Amino acid sequence: MNNFYSVQDVSNLDELIITAQAMKAHPLKHQALGNGKLIVLLFFNPSLRTKLSTQKAAMNLGMQVISMDMKDSWAWEFEDGVTMNKDKAEHIKEAANVICSYADIIAIRSFPSLKDKKEDYRDQVIRSFIKYSTKPIINLESAIRHPLQSFADLLTMREHCKIEKPKIVLSWAPHPKALPQAVSNSFLEWMHAAGHQVTVTYPQGYELDESFMQGHQVEYDQEKAFAEADIIYVKNWSPLSNYGQVVSQDANWMITADKLSRTNNAKLLHCLPVRRNVVIADDAIDSDHSAIYQLAENRLYTAQAVIYNILKANA
Ligand code: CP
Repeated sequence: MNNFYSVQDVSNLDELIITAQAMKAHPLKHQALGNGKLIVLLFFNPSLRTKLSTQKAAMNLGMQVISMDMKDSWAWEFEDGVTMNKDKAEHIKEAANVICSYADIIAIRSFPSLKDKKEDYRDQVIRSFIKYSTKPIINLESAIRHPLQSFADLLTMREHCKIEKPKIVLSWAPHPKALPQAVSNSFLEWMHAAGHQVTVTYPQGYELDESFMQGHQVEYDQEKAFAEADIIYVKNWSPLSNYGQVVSQDANWMITADKLSRTNNAKLLHCLPVRRNVVIADDAIDSDHSAIYQLAENRLYTAQAVIYNILKANA
């Protein structure tokens, strides 16, 4: 593995899961691998889990870590051939070259603007890094994908659901703010790569991008979708039409213990952060259905497996 932008960068998903399980069993076994190496994490947006888990993963592998809040840096220009006489002080060409001269791996978080769908789906920030970087790039959640989250989702599902062909449901839930589609997009992409069909349930108008729906099905009735479900993955996303708007805050879509009781004793997953009693009710999130903390912990071992593979490939 060189870059980790999407599931397409994973040559063998089962092997990667086995590596994550090995990291979980013996987190400090490969401390020598990253000795003398530096990972630089660039955050254009806030984070709790991704920042801490990726830092810790790199440290478990013996790496040094520098994490930068991009509010402390210059405003960057990502378009080529522009006259930089406005607010952008540094071009990605220079920035990428300079960071590559210090770092062995670069990891980036950059959310969408949620103003212009076409522009956001170019995924320009991380793609520009991939274009100009001579060092491996890790996606810490880009405008349209969150592969580290999806990898942890898959590992947690495998740990908590031993059914060979589980019924997996991705359910939209209400949220007061417009949120990206990245987690849902990546979840669908990873489940497809792992051979799973997902039932996606959401209010009409919240369709996800066709390219991520390959192999999955839509059920507009949440109650029908939940029947016999083994996994309930909950996430809000904002609509593609009416882009960046909050069109529905229908509280009937909130996940409750009562809804979970009408599943096949489903495990409840959410990437976090979650707004309690808006997205998921207390009685669901604090129930035995919930595997949200196990999922958050698995962010560490899955990130470690990715960094391990990149270090091995570039040793
Ligand atoms: N799930 C997730 O990516 O969490 P953070 O935004 O806190 O990193």
